[in-house]
Amino acid sequence: MKRYLILNGPNLNMLGTREPEVYGNLTLEDIRKHTEKMLSKYQVEMTWFQSNIEGELVDQIQIAQKKGEYNALIINPAAYSHTSVAIYDALKTIQIPVIEVHLTNVHAREDFRQTLLTAKAASKIMCGLGKDAYFMAILSDYLT
Ligand code: DQA
Repeated sequence: MKRYLILNGPNLNMLGTREPEVYGNLTLEDIRKHTEKMLSKYQVEMTWFQSNIEGELVDQIQIAQKKGEYNALIINPAAYSHTSVAIYDALKTIQIPVIEVHLTNVHAREDFRQTLLTAKAASKIMCGLGKDAYFMAILSDYLT
């Protein structure tokens, strides 16, 4: 069994109604179910967490570090990807692989999304894969 912590940052709780032309119509819960379905034949256990609060994401990263029971951390820091030194610093303390995901191709978007601060602490980054981002991120660790 391999265990994964999946952290999601601000406004990802609004998926489904949030700018559907950019993010699609699926909710985060729909994406979680899709991820579960795609991984059903693998020995994968997932813990999903979403917060709009930067410090809560930092707390979860620290708890994961202390627990030491996850194989990898998958994180979509959302807008905090572009700004958060606190999340970057927390990610730097963690021993397990960090995979940063973005539903959209941030490189094809606004200038302010071109700096991915937190991604500097990630071993892999995936963007533009939409609902498939999470299961592909997990598989990229699981299969190695
Ligand atoms: C996002 C991209 C970020 O720029 C944005 O602030 C988000 C979502 C994505 O998944 O594409 O909230 O992380």
